[in-house]
Amino acid sequence: MDLITVKDIYKDRDKYMDREVTLGGWVRSVRDSKTFGFIVLHDGSFFETMQIVYSDSMDNFTQISKLNVGAAILVTGTLVATPQAKQPFEIQAREILVEGESAPDYPLQKKRHSLEYLRTISHLRPRTNTFQAVFRVRSLIAYAIHKFFQERGFVYVHTPLITGSDCEGAGEMFRVTTLDLENLPRTEDGKVDYTRDFFNKETSLTVSGQLNGETYAQAFRSIYTFGPTFRAENSNTTRHAAEFWMIEPEMAFADLEDNMALAEAMLKYVIRYVMEEAPEEMKFFNSFVDKGLLERLQGVVNADFAHVTYTEAIEILEKVNDKFEYKVSWGCDLQTEHERYLTEQVYKRPVFVTDYPKEIKAFYMKLNEDGRTVAAMDCLVPGIGEIIGGSQREDSYDRLTARMEELGLKPEDYEFYLDLRKYGSTRHSGFGLGFERCVMYLTGMGNIRDVIPFPRTVNNCEL
Ligand code: 4AD
Repeated sequence: MDLITVKDIYKDRDKYMDREVTLGGWVRSVRDSKTFGFIVLHDGSFFETMQIVYSDSMDNFTQISKLNVGAAILVTGTLVATPQAKQPFEIQAREILVEGESAPDYPLQKKRHSLEYLRTISHLRPRTNTFQAVFRVRSLIAYAIHKFFQERGFVYVHTPLITGSDCEGAGEMFRVTTLDLENLPRTEDGKVDYTRDFFNKETSLTVSGQLNGETYAQAFRSIYTFGPTFRAENSNTTRHAAEFWMIEPEMAFADLEDNMALAEAMLKYVIRYVMEEAPEEMKFFNSFVDKGLLERLQGVVNADFAHVTYTEAIEILEKVNDKFEYKVSWGCDLQTEHERYLTEQVYKRPVFVTDYPKEIKAFYMKLNEDGRTVAAMDCLVPGIGEIIGGSQREDSYDRLTARMEELGLKPEDYEFYLDLRKYGSTRHSGFGLGFERCVMYLTGMGNIRDVIPFPRTVNNCEL
C-alpha cells in the first residue's frame, strides 16, 4: 500500500501540500454536523495527529460519523494548509475506507486515564500519548546505545539466556527445567537429579551476561551485550522488574577509571541523542511527567559526574542517620534511600560510588590493596538511585580461586571463567546499565512498569 505518514507530512510539508495523499491510522475522535464532520487521526508515526475533514458527498458519510474511538481507517484526500487553525494543516477527505470498526466499549476514551489503569491494559496503552512517547524514546535510547558502542569499535556479543552459572551469586535465578515437577527424579541421597534434565545439569535464566561477555573481551578487547536479563528478586518496588534488559560492556586493558569514563560518556551521549532526536517527546515529558526534566538532563550533559568512595559516602550518611529507615554503618549495603540522598541532596548530579566492602559485592571483583574493599563502582542518579553497577575484574587466578573458595563456589563450575586468568589474563573492567532504569531517568517516568511494554514483576505476568 502506498501510504504516507503524519510524520512524512510534518517533515516535508511542501512536498505534500495541495496534493492527494493516503494515510492509515486510528480514530482518536469524531465530531459531525449534518453535512460534514471532523476526525482526529493518529497513525503511530509521530506524536502529532492529523485532522480529517469529511463531508456528505461521501457515500459512507453516516458510517463514518458513527465510528467509535479506536476504529482503523484509510483516508485519501488533499492536504491543505490551515493557517488560522490550531493545527497547521488538515486533510480534506475524498474517500474514507473503514479498515476495522471499534466496539463501543473501547477502553481508551478522550479523557486522561491513570497510569495504574493503563497498566491493566498493557496491550492498548501504547495507543496513548504518554506511551507513544515512552516507547518511541525507549526505541531511540536502544539505538543510541548501539550507536555509541559501535562507533567506538565495541563488538556486540549475544550471550546466552539459559545458563548454568549464577553470575551475581545472589541466588535470584529462575530455574529452567523440563522435569516433571509432580514426579521429580531423585538421586540416592534424595536430591533432585538434574542429570536427567534436558541439559543434564541444573540450569536457569541468566541474571547477567557478564561472565560470557568477559570471554569475548579477552578476544576482541572491547565488547558489549544488550539483552534480556532475569531476576527472581522478591522486590516489589518501582525500579525492580523480574525481566529487564541490561547493557554490559566489557573492556580488556581497562581499569576502574576507564570504566567510569566509559559509563559517563555513554550516558551523556544517550541523553544528547534523545534530546536531539525526540524533542517533541522530551517536551511532553517535561510538561506532563516531570517538570524539571529537560533542565536537569542539560545539566547532566554539561557537568562532570561526582566521585566518592563507599567509605566517604558512609561518613556523609552516618551524619544524617536519623533521616533513614535503614541506619547506615560501614559494611552495610546502600539502600535506595541512601543512594537517593547522596545523588539528590549531596551532589545534585550523577555520582559514582567506588570501592565497596568485598562482602557486599560479587566474587569476581578485583580486591583492592587494603584487602577489604573491591574495585567496584555504582553510578547513582537523581530520582532513581543506582542505574549502573560495574567493577574492575579480578584478573589473578590465585586471588580469584581463593575468593571463590571463601564464598563456597566450586571452581570446577567456573572452569571457562578461570581459564581466562590462565591464558593471557589482562586487567579488565565492565559494567551493567539497567536499560529500564535508563529509560526512567531520561523520561522522568516514575515506575519501571511504565517503561517496559509488558512488565514482569512479583505477582504479575499478564499478557
Ligand atoms: O549491579 P548489577 O547486579 O550488576 C551486574 O549484574 C553486573 N554483572 C554488571 C556488570 O558488571 N557487567 O546490575 C546492573 C544494573 C543495575 O545497576 C540496575 O540498573 C539494573 O542492572 N538492575 C535492574 N533493573 C531492573 N530490575 C531489576 N530487578 C534489576 N536488577 C539490576
